[in-house]
Amino acid sequence: MSRTKGPERERWSSRVGLILAMAGNAIGLGNFLRFPVQAVENGGGAYIIPYFISFILLGIPLMWIEWSIGRYGGSLNHGTAPGMFDALWKNPIAKYIGILGIFIPLIILTYYTYIASWTLAFSIFSLLGLLPEGRIADGITPAQYLKPFEEYLGSFIGATGKGIFLTPDLWAYIFFLFTVAFSLYILSRGVAGGIERLADFAIPTLFVMALILFVRVLTLESPTGADVSPVDGLAFLWEPRFEGLTSPKVWLAAAGQIFFTLSLGLGAILTYASYLRRDDDIALNGLTTASLNEFAEIVLGGTISIVSAVVFFGVAGAKDAASGAFKLGFISMPAILSHMPLGNLFGFMWFFLLFFAAITSVMALSQPVIAFFEDELFWSRKKSVAVLGIIFFVSAHLPIFLKGALDEMDFWAGTFGLVVFALFEVVIFVWIFGSERAWEEINRSAQIRIPHIFYFIMKYITPLFLIVILATWSYTELPKVLAKKDGTIWITRIFLILVLLGLFALVRMAWEKREAKG
Ligand code: ALA
Repeated sequence: MSRTKGPERERWSSRVGLILAMAGNAIGLGNFLRFPVQAVENGGGAYIIPYFISFILLGIPLMWIEWSIGRYGGSLNHGTAPGMFDALWKNPIAKYIGILGIFIPLIILTYYTYIASWTLAFSIFSLLGLLPEGRIADGITPAQYLKPFEEYLGSFIGATGKGIFLTPDLWAYIFFLFTVAFSLYILSRGVAGGIERLADFAIPTLFVMALILFVRVLTLESPTGADVSPVDGLAFLWEPRFEGLTSPKVWLAAAGQIFFTLSLGLGAILTYASYLRRDDDIALNGLTTASLNEFAEIVLGGTISIVSAVVFFGVAGAKDAASGAFKLGFISMPAILSHMPLGNLFGFMWFFLLFFAAITSVMALSQPVIAFFEDELFWSRKKSVAVLGIIFFVSAHLPIFLKGALDEMDFWAGTFGLVVFALFEVVIFVWIFGSERAWEEINRSAQIRIPHIFYFIMKYITPLFLIVILATWSYTELPKVLAKKDGTIWITRIFLILVLLGLFALVRMAWEKREAKG
């Protein structure tokens, strides 16, 4: 297969395909599992106001910035941050900062793919009627009702294993292998032939399944005959309460969710946007995908699980049922769905839509590494996909078998890293490359007029917001993470450092070769 360079660089084949692939990048487990948990933990309506403010002041501006950097870099045949930053800032350090744009998606990929494989497994188990069945009877507490489901997940992922190791079920490993193989197969077919075609099918199907569940949930009745209805669930999420505005914890949660859900600071948008043409619009396309993501998140993701949990367990019980993304997705939701007529089918839909949401994000997390190999090391797509496959197959064994590894990776890459990388993007693009040039880039071939106020938001408010988040996190969360003492944490940290060093060596090698060639 030919290398995707110069005039042959791959392109999205259609505008709809681009939007669906970008929507697939954004819509993921974050929309259906992370958002409801964050919303419930942070007071429902109290969370929604900081969430929307973060969307406008962080989400939208960063999204346009990333699309612009990506399109600009792509026109110079760079599909990842090292090359893009190097082009924007003539400083030898720029390319090394760009390593974060490969490191972060690679690390998230290693655990995200494993979770994606659970969703596929559970969709099939649900269809075959292998999941436990829940029956609410008088006097049963939510905790008792959820117990068999909790045990089922625990034994599937081996959370009950002794010592430092997890001992997953053989099926968990088989589904993981299948998911890796399936992802690599799609990736090997290329950007338009693989990723775009998958998104063309997966994203509309996901929306259909989510809409069916949405309607079903809005017609739910309390299984115990309690005086609680879907309206109570909606009210919990949507009745605005202003106390969230004064809580740093709620602000951090809301801003963190905006990052994760829009796939910002991941390097993934940069790479996908590098397959745009120089004169493709980004203003409208970017806004369309962000809107699709928000619809999937707050309307579908928020309603399906929060409303059903409130109807089943009441507001207080729902807080417990949604006290973690895995608990909500793999314990509470199947428990609720299994109670309905046609529960197996609804359970299948829930897990299969999660699988489509996850697998399209897996594509976006994989492509930066592939693009780096192709664009900077000049490897063929086949070789790039194969090497990525080996790296991430081997790395994934850490979150599969080592207790605490998943959380540790999620903190450094999926929470902290995103914000650090986004701050570098804004500084390099808006402040070093230049705010006027950056604004011109963003507006190039734009099909909508971006209000000029965003110029000021991008230049001042977004970076300031990021600095405040980082400072607050460093003050409140970092000490807690660094205080963790057990040995397994250090295995994961050493692994993360080795990956960073490996990427550093590759970037150095790529640039030395380039300089030798002149
Ligand atoms: N944006 C992706 C998600 O929400 C990573 O899961």
